Amino acid sequence: METDERIKKTIEAGKVAKEIRKTIKIKEGDSILELCKNLEMKMKEMGCEYAFPVNVSVNEITAHDTASVDDERVFTEKDLVKIDIGVHKDGFIADGSATFDLSGEHGKLMDANIRALENAISVIKDGVFTSEIGKEIETTLKKYGFKPIDNLTGHALGRYIIHSNPIIPNFETKKSVQLKEGDIVAIEPFATYGNAAGHVSEMDRCEIFSADSIEPTRNRDARRLIEKIFSERKTLPFAERHYASSRAEKIALIELVRNGSLIAYPVLREVSKSAVSQFEHTVIVGKDSAETVF
Ligand code: CO
Repeated sequence: METDERIKKTIEAGKVAKEIRKTIKIKEGDSILELCKNLEMKMKEMGCEYAFPVNVSVNEITAHDTASVDDERVFTEKDLVKIDIGVHKDGFIADGSATFDLSGEHGKLMDANIRALENAISVIKDGVFTSEIGKEIETTLKKYGFKPIDNLTGHALGRYIIHSNPIIPNFETKKSVQLKEGDIVAIEPFATYGNAAGHVSEMDRCEIFSADSIEPTRNRDARRLIEKIFSERKTLPFAERHYASSRAEKIALIELVRNGSLIAYPVLREVSKSAVSQFEHTVIVGKDSAETVF
């Protein structure tokens, strides 16, 4: 019963996510804030919710970036834009991303990245080792002169849990686990240039958070805020712009990070500031192959 619901609702979330992805158009001068708000609104209109804030990560910014409350950033003609969206239906998640190149300079990188994702999915079936998936990604990218970001991974999806175990590495690993029929996993190779460092580190900026536990605090606003977040989001991530637009709410948010109620996810940047692309699909592991739901 639970399995049927899990598969059915994940497919439903995937359909909505696919429809929304088709509508994404990005051009120079467009507002990042408008794009995020627009896509999240569409998820709601289509009977789902955002599983995490729409991630918009530009050039060497690799992940965990989203619009701030009064974000004034717009896209420029030099931008390589990664849009990572997650849609959930009753906690069952479809997670996927695509990269849009306004510069026209990164076609080969993106082609290799797409090929790496396709090759990775082609080996997925009941019993596949996660390292085999990572190896496909690594060897495909290297064949074309590129490399994966080695400290970001794909992941299993749980109910209301975006990053569940096991992780799906983007390179061949010694430690490895087997996937089984019915597992739902997001495969997400991030690709960069051969001469880049090939990993990310955290920046000071942080827009995305998730609830972890309700810890004691003397701040009444903070207590109210964590209860509201838990009731609306459970443990799914949200952005500061969703819950903290006033000064008092911002102070409450900081307090909740300080006392350990919230987990913060700082913006991640490629350490050598090399441009990064990303393509991601959510798949259901089948007996002999994988079904792509988003
Ligand atoms: Co993902």
